[in-house]
Parts: sequence; structure tokens; C-alpha cells
Amino acid sequence: MLETFDPVTQETLLELEKTQKQFWNVYRPTAEFLHNLIKTEGFVSGLEVGTSNGYSGIWLGKALKANGGKLTTIEFYEKRYSVAKQNFEKCGVADIITIRPGSAKAVLEYLPEDMMFDFAFVDANKSESIDYFRLIHPHLKAGGIYTTDNVLSHKEKVQPYIDAINAHPDYRHTVLDLPAGLSFARKLR
Ligand SMILES: C[S@@+](CC[C@H](N)C(=O)[O-])C[C@H]1O[C@@H](n2cnc3c(N)ncnc32)[C@H](O)[C@@H]1O
Repeated sequence: MLETFDPVTQETLLELEKTQKQFWNVYRPTAEFLHNLIKTEGFVSGLEVGTSNGYSGIWLGKALKANGGKLTTIEFYEKRYSVAKQNFEKCGVADIITIRPGSAKAVLEYLPEDMMFDFAFVDANKSESIDYFRLIHPHLKAGGIYTTDNVLSHKEKVQPYIDAINAHPDYRHTVLDLPAGLSFARKLR
């Protein structure tokens, strides 16, 4: 399904796609899938690990904003998150996105105990996927969705995470056949 955004957002997304490899952005079909998922599920509190220049954040932010929700996104590279901030402003989602600068594990470890999300998209250091899962688990609401990108393209690095989520009794997990492979899990309780 083709999303119809305002002309500035459409133009910005197309521009960002020209440098997709350089900024390691998610592929458009994955971004579109996540956008539609948030909208149809009515999610209002999203967490992203790995902001880069904000390409995926725009897609997630647009869906969350349509639902009256908010996005928290984590990035440790100043040059990337300052560009993301500008892109969020350009696309009209800066008001609902909080960029948490810093190392993902440290930021996640110090999230307020009562900070809960109904959606998580993990797209940072693939070898740390297992750590992100352990740290985000207590902050994901029952019924929420946990996703991790690149589980087919970076199979070996994410294997400990895949084993952990498959074995976890609170999650129903599958890998979706989207470019790079998207790990997709519902938290049951
Ligand atoms: C694959 S890119 C994210 C792309 C973004 N989700 C998108 O689709 O537009 C991964 C990002 O995670 C950041 N990153 C990697 N390891 C990190 C860490 N340990 N803490 C915080 N950010 C990290 C990198 O600087 C990079 O910008």
C-alpha cells in the first residue's frame, strides 16, 4: 500500500532513499509495513533503537502521530541524530519524537521503570540484539509488538537473540520475509 504523505515528507523520504546505504536505513517495504502496523494496531508509544538520519523514524513517527502517540528513539552518533532532528522537523513529527542520545544499552538500562511502550523497533548494533531484548522486555506492554531488523542479513550476529525470543514463554515470534528479514514478536503477557 502506498502511503500518501504531504509533499514535503514524500520528497524528504525519496531524498533520503538516495543515501540509504550510507545511513543504513531500513528498506521502504519494511518501513511501510511498520507504519501500517502501528496505525492498524492503534499503538501510541513507540521505541526505536538506532535513529541514524531519521528515515525510519519519520515512518514510525507519522503513524504514531496519526494515533495521537509518541516515539522515543536512541542514537549515539551526534552527526546522525542532529540530521535526524532536522528531518523530523521538516516532516512535521519533531513534536512527538524524543531523541535519546547515547549508547543504546546505557540509555535502555536507565529508562524510568514505569516507562512502557506498545511497540519496539530495534535497528542498531546487531551483536547487541540480545542485550536490547533483555533490557526492553520489562518496558514492553502485554499485547505489544517487538521487532528487530536484519535477522536474515546478519544471521550469525542476531542468533543469540533469536534463540532467546523463541524460547521465551511470553512471546510468539516469527521472522517476516521482508528485505533483510524482520523479526516480529507479540508479547502475550
Ligand atoms: C541501521 S542504522 C539505523 C537506521 C534507521 N533505523 C533507519 O532505518 O533510518 C543503525 C544506527 O544505530 C546506531 N548505533 C549502532 N550502535 C549503537 C549503540 N550501541 N548505541 C546507539 N546507537 C547505535 C548507528 O550509529 C546507526 O546510526
